Amino acid sequence: MRRLAVAVSLLSASLVFAAPPPSSKELLDKGKSSFDINCAPCHGPKGAGDGPAAVALNPKPRNFTVDPFKNGEKPENVAKTLAEGVKDTAMVSFAHLPEQERWALAYYVLELRGAGKPAAAAVPDAGTKGKGAAKPKK
Ligand code: HEC
Repeated sequence: MRRLAVAVSLLSASLVFAAPPPSSKELLDKGKSSFDINCAPCHGPKGAGDGPAAVALNPKPRNFTVDPFKNGEKPENVAKTLAEGVKDTAMVSFAHLPEQERWALAYYVLELRGAGKPAAAAVPDAGTKGKGAAKPKK
C-alpha cells in the first residue's frame, strides 16, 4: 500500500515537472504529422510563420526559423508554451493533445528552427569589436 502511495506521488510529480523524453526519429515523425494538422495553418509548413491563416493575425505567428522565442528554446520551454499558450494571442493552449504529442511537437518545432539557422550564426563575432582585439598578447 505504501509502495502504491509512493508510485502515485511520483507519477503526479512527473506530470507537473515532466522531464523531456529523449528525442528520436519516431518522435520527430509524430511531431511532423501533428504539426501539419495543428500548427501549419498559422505557422506555415516549414514553420516560417506564413500559414494561410497568418495574414489575419496580430501578433503574427512566430517564424520559428528566425524570430526569438519569448518563452525560451529548450524542449521543456516549447512544451510549456504548448500546454499554456501565449496569453492574448492566437497561440492557444494545446493541452488537449496528449503529453507525448506535445513533446513530439516541441522537438519538431526546434528541428524546424535549427534548419533555418546556418551553424556559423551561432559563433559570436569575436575579434572585430573591442580595442585590444588586434593586439597580440605577450
Ligand atoms: C491560430 C494560429 C496558431 C496556431 C494554430 C498555432 N499557433 Fe503557435 N503562435 C501563434 C501566434 C500568433 C504566436 C505568436 C504569439 C506572440 O506573439 O507572443 C505563436 C507562437 C508560437 C511559439 C513561440 C512562443 C514563444 O516562446 O515565443 C511557438 C513555439 C508556437 N507558437 C508553436 C506552435 C505549435 C507547435 C502549434 C501547433 C500545435 C501552434 N503553435 C499552433 C499562432 C498559432
